[in-house]
Amino acid sequence: MSRTLAIIKPDATERHLIGHITNRIERARFKIVEMRIVHLTDEQAREFYAVHADKPFINDLVAFMTSGPVVPMALEKENAVEDFRTLIGATNPENAACGTIRWEIGRNIEKNSVHGSDSDENAAREIAFFFGD
Ligand code: CMP
Repeated sequence: MSRTLAIIKPDATERHLIGHITNRIERARFKIVEMRIVHLTDEQAREFYAVHADKPFINDLVAFMTSGPVVPMALEKENAVEDFRTLIGATNPENAACGTIRWEIGRNIEKNSVHGSDSDENAAREIAFFFGD
């Protein structure tokens, strides 16, 4: 078993899609082992996205991620990181494969409804960020 960190983003919580997304996650055989609803501060969002600190979109990304509640979850499954990225699809919903969560409900590259860790190392860091060690 391995773990990944998922976040339901503000564009999805605003549209009352928490239940829909958690249902899709559970139907794909992920076990939700931790879950919270949080409203991130500017400082927390910048810390979470520290790897993107130098990107031109960082201020917009932080503004978006602090614009409403988000739902971080620790998910458990064999091959969790890769399988969750397959379930959510490409970062830009325009490029996401048919049937993926971002294809279904993502609006654009920023408002793409869900985050998923991109490696086991980052999953451990991101899970610790929200839920401790
Ligand atoms: P996420 O998986 O949460 O990781 C970083 C986020 O930055 C990514 O999803 C996108 O929402 C956002 N992002 C990546 N590239 C861009 C971009 N070119 N413009 C705006 N936002 C972006």
